[in-house]
Amino acid sequence: MNNPFIIRNVDALQVLDSRGDPTVEVVIETVGGGIGRAIAPAGASKGRYEAVELRDGDLSRFKGRSVLKAVSNVINYIGPAIHGMDVRRQREIDKIMIQLDSTLNKSRLGANAILATSLAVAKAAADTAKMPLFQYLGGINARTLPIPMLNIINGGAHAGNELAVQEFMIVPIGFDTFSDAIRVAVEIYKELKSVLKSRYGASAVNVGDEGGYAPPMKYVREAIETLRIAIKSSGYDLEKQVRISLDAAATQFYDEDKKAYKIDGNMLTEDKLIEYWRDLAAEYNLLSIEDPFYEESFEAYAQLKKELKGSVIVIGDDLIVTNVTRLLTALKQGSVSGVIVKPNQVGTLSETLDFIGVAKANGIYTIISHRSGESEDNTIAHIAVAVNGPFIKTGAPARGERTAKYNELLRIERYLGGEAIYASKIVSI
Ligand code: PGA
Ligand code: ZN
Repeated sequence: MNNPFIIRNVDALQVLDSRGDPTVEVVIETVGGGIGRAIAPAGASKGRYEAVELRDGDLSRFKGRSVLKAVSNVINYIGPAIHGMDVRRQREIDKIMIQLDSTLNKSRLGANAILATSLAVAKAAADTAKMPLFQYLGGINARTLPIPMLNIINGGAHAGNELAVQEFMIVPIGFDTFSDAIRVAVEIYKELKSVLKSRYGASAVNVGDEGGYAPPMKYVREAIETLRIAIKSSGYDLEKQVRISLDAAATQFYDEDKKAYKIDGNMLTEDKLIEYWRDLAAEYNLLSIEDPFYEESFEAYAQLKKELKGSVIVIGDDLIVTNVTRLLTALKQGSVSGVIVKPNQVGTLSETLDFIGVAKANGIYTIISHRSGESEDNTIAHIAVAVNGPFIKTGAPARGERTAKYNELLRIERYLGGEAIYASKIVSI
């Protein structure tokens, strides 16, 4: 009898992401008629050590941003190498792509080509098995809906304002279900809109890359204070119900020559920045701070984490780039208590799951994350449930590419019915 899980066809094409940049879509078809379709996302504030997104650099097309080479790598190299394989052999297929690429950072075939294929393989397997992806990946143990960290004020590389800090997030923790948490987030998002409009005028409610407002602000405190007001005037409390988190993405405002950080119009040394974060965390009961320092500063992260004494989750994104070796370095030095997980920083699904495994084995919170350049692809929603969260970062509750993930989580919650658990019920924060 024919094995329905055998790959019958691998195709790829160039599609567009949420910034209008070209990106890679891969479509995999199995003998049993299963179809897996996945689209690679793209970052703007990328870490230096991320796997490489291959772009053509041909200035006559899409101003150099086209990905036709990556698309042709899927069709001409990856496709023939995995054709006829069983889609359930995810690790083996990922390994073949890693070997075929043979660089340390996936720069030959492109992490965009490899990741889209890797995710499409898993989706084709789930489709052939007629199972939701989260269940195919996580089995009967997958039933926890992640706590969303919603970025509702955008700064840094994602906005055209002067805010040094890239993301100001609300985190609805004090609720019983994921759908309640999303409802509350939307109420606050709308309240924030009226607060911004009345204080800064109509242009303050234009949105940035991740759907958060991008008001003409300069000071970090000003943005956090506005969030605090929106949370309070929506009727929620900052202690038990809705917390605030930041992603500084500090590499973006670090001056390597001066060895200082440009924030709020000042240049701060590393020591001063440690104090700055410490004061801010105490003042606003921050839940977490992501990338508070430059992407090489394992010691500064460790120093801050020590001073905060476990009261704030210190998260590594550009510092660790979903890379096990860098995570082990961070663990040895005590740099982080949380890690961002971005599948395209490492390039395959199995390496992403391995990374999550190492983090969880060491008691580190995992935050499954989108990129600022996204699409309708909602795979990360499934990964977040498959690994039982506990967190997901996928932007504001606005812009189709962000709501695609939230909506999929709402569907998964409904599908699970009484089995669904909201992660804040089982995670100690
Ligand atoms: P990026 O930003 O996708 O532009 O890299 C997201 C983040 O820094 O978390
Ligand atoms: Zn980040």
